[in-house]
Amino acid sequence: MGSLARFGVSMEQELLNRFDSAISRKGYTNRSEAVRDLMRLFLIEEEWQGHQGQIVGTLTILYDHHSSRVNQALLELQHTHHETIASSLHIHLNEHLCMEVIVLRGPAAKVRQVANAVISLNAVRLGRLVIAVASDPN
Ligand code: NI
Repeated sequence: MGSLARFGVSMEQELLNRFDSAISRKGYTNRSEAVRDLMRLFLIEEEWQGHQGQIVGTLTILYDHHSSRVNQALLELQHTHHETIASSLHIHLNEHLCMEVIVLRGPAAKVRQVANAVISLNAVRLGRLVIAVASDPN
């Protein structure tokens, strides 16, 4: 680890109180570690936006399987992009709701394109892509 730097941050007391409660629930014992983790997440997200190389990621979606043709549309998308989709996991949450976790890998632009195509399906209520750069850190 390099040398440690300290910095001050100004914010509304209420925001800080909510943050402290949230990180406490997550098990953080000090604010610095929580802020470091947030900054790392922010940097990963920011780096991959312009990344030209290979990335891996998981796309988690929620959808109502009664919505018209959603299963067919999802199946067709996943077959069309079989070279980008490594695997998928389907969980029937209740009578209506399904959760699917799709593992993607490939060029960053392609992964983003496939994830957006899935998320933009009408029946998909929630879509969240979590990515990592699939190369050694430099
Ligand atoms: Ni299901």
